[in-house]
Amino acid sequence: MVTNIALPRFAKIGAGAADTLGEVIADLGISRPVLVTDRYLVETGQAERLAKTLHAAGSTAAVFSDTVPDPTVESLSAGLELVRAHRADGIIGFGGGSPMDTAKALAVLSANGGDIASYKAPSSYTGPALPIVAVPTTAGSGSEATQFTVITDGETDEKMLCPGLSFLPIAIVVDYELTVSMPARLTADTGVDALTHAIEAYVSRRAGGFSDALALAAMQSISKHLRRAYVDGDDREAREAMMLASTQAGMAFSNSSVALVHGMSRPIGGHFHVAHGLSNAMLLPAVTRFSVESAIGRYADCARAMGIVGAAVADRDAASELVTELERLCADVEVPTPRSYGIDEKDWEARLPTMAEQALASGSPQNNPRVPTHDEIVALYREIY
Ligand SMILES: [Fe+2]
Repeated sequence: MVTNIALPRFAKIGAGAADTLGEVIADLGISRPVLVTDRYLVETGQAERLAKTLHAAGSTAAVFSDTVPDPTVESLSAGLELVRAHRADGIIGFGGGSPMDTAKALAVLSANGGDIASYKAPSSYTGPALPIVAVPTTAGSGSEATQFTVITDGETDEKMLCPGLSFLPIAIVVDYELTVSMPARLTADTGVDALTHAIEAYVSRRAGGFSDALALAAMQSISKHLRRAYVDGDDREAREAMMLASTQAGMAFSNSSVALVHGMSRPIGGHFHVAHGLSNAMLLPAVTRFSVESAIGRYADCARAMGIVGAAVADRDAASELVTELERLCADVEVPTPRSYGIDEKDWEARLPTMAEQALASGSPQNNPRVPTHDEIVALYREIY
């Protein structure tokens, strides 16, 4: 079997890496980048700091900060106009998953046009795009290392997964110091998202030796450091470890896939505007319990990598300990249920058939060790409510 591996061409990783962005852009021959970010990063002066490194290195940079959480089709228009007016020759995504995903969509649409919906899975786009450089500010989405973007159709509330090599950043700047100011809630949600990437990449039907190694390394590190970063945001060792693990987990799932948790998570985000990491966290223990029987050995490996059980423990026991630990972890970082989050039960029930259809249509559940039916997905949604 031939495995396809795609990664950013190079990375700058470590404290202070953000200050090298100007050089990175200059080395790539980009002279008119657009820095795609959000208002929070403008208000805190962090966008300005990056703009300064760009100008110092000779770039003529423009800033687009009107990105929205869970970027919608409509939210792209203003960015697209700015990219064209600026005659940009490169796009920098600076922020959490949403600004990076917006940057990716702009890089493709500005070069190839069309409607972002025409790029959604199962299509895979490898055509013209502006070069993308990603600078993550959360330890979670892994978007800096993936060949996907997720854009929401505001009319149907569908979170569209758009895959293809052209969405993959060519260079990444991974500076954990950017994450030190993250509040505890965001630390937990993005951290569980990264853990979900690692576990799903490893148990996916599309897993391979290359992605396995990255996924196991990420799981081990997240298991050790997520609670620490949640309890004490100034724990720099934990922040550094989480940031690296998040990028490794992104590389893992970009070269394997995500599975049922993400398949079911996107509709929760699309319909109820729950942050991506949080909707994953709501699902992770229950979906793992549902799936474990179909890949006991793989889930047992996860439990061992996470240090939950020793090497001598039998696969079946190790896999069941994994489910227990995921429940414990989600409780420790105070993950709500959809009900306690405030979602109305009638509204939840009414949307379940559509949500199950959208989950299946994304293709992610088909990569799960246990492929669910439409009714099983509905039942899982009921269970976690
Ligand atoms: Fe994710």
